[in-house]
Amino acid sequence: MSNRRPSIGVFDSGFGGLTVLKELVALIPDADYLYFGDTARLPYGSKSTETVAKYAVEATHFLEQQGANLLVVACNTATALALDQIMRGAAVPVVGVVEPGAERAASSSKNRKIVVIGTEATVASHAYMKALQARGVQAREKACPLLVPLVEEGWIEHAVTEQVARIYLDEAFGDGFQSADVLVLGCTHYPLIKPLLQRVAPPHITIVDSAESTAQAVLALLKLNPPPTSFAKERRQLPRVRVFATDSVEKFRRLGARFLGHAIEDVEHVDLKE
Ligand code: DGL
Repeated sequence: MSNRRPSIGVFDSGFGGLTVLKELVALIPDADYLYFGDTARLPYGSKSTETVAKYAVEATHFLEQQGANLLVVACNTATALALDQIMRGAAVPVVGVVEPGAERAASSSKNRKIVVIGTEATVASHAYMKALQARGVQAREKACPLLVPLVEEGWIEHAVTEQVARIYLDEAFGDGFQSADVLVLGCTHYPLIKPLLQRVAPPHITIVDSAESTAQAVLALLKLNPPPTSFAKERRQLPRVRVFATDSVEKFRRLGARFLGHAIEDVEHVDLKE
């Protein structure tokens, strides 16, 4: 992989994984990106392991067929529920978001106590808790299902979102977890409300964003620092990004711009046959 320009396939249930793509593009601008958002079948966060694994394996096969030589599972739910199945089904290296997020969180916690927020399915899988306990850290996981629709509604700085977040975080940091010193954003949508969460969380909290940690893990995997000479020669002003969605391309362009931080020119519709 080191002598070829990397073609990084990024997979998510919908728009949220664009927060991971944004970090990847910022950190590794000299790669090609193929982004797949399974908008016709989202949300994954309320679905069973069997269903999420089936969808995720189909999506990763699609990205491999398009030429991806490295896969990033940007969706926390898909990583938490189906990373093993995805890795077994893929012919290329796969990076999920849970291990990089847990690694960064564990190294940031002095008190060895961490709160993780995510979807119902991510929390029910205990993937983050297991990854943190393996690093000698005590963890509490808290499902925050209302935050995804609020973010998709665009209520980023909104009194309702603030109130909802406050209720969730008060519960998460109460009852024995007052001394937790790290909050892990274990869902693709939460980086958009990071300033709000920082305000609502206890004042001493460090927020760890799995999107950022994952981009760093991908960079480490690619050993791009410094990039190989052949690779540097291909340096372009802008990375090449192709975006695929399984539902309305118009809606993807509209909502996706909010997650990516700039307009998305082209979105290609794809229909994954059962
Ligand atoms: N992408 C999902 C995650 O990070 C959130 C949206 C969904 O439930 O599909 O867990």
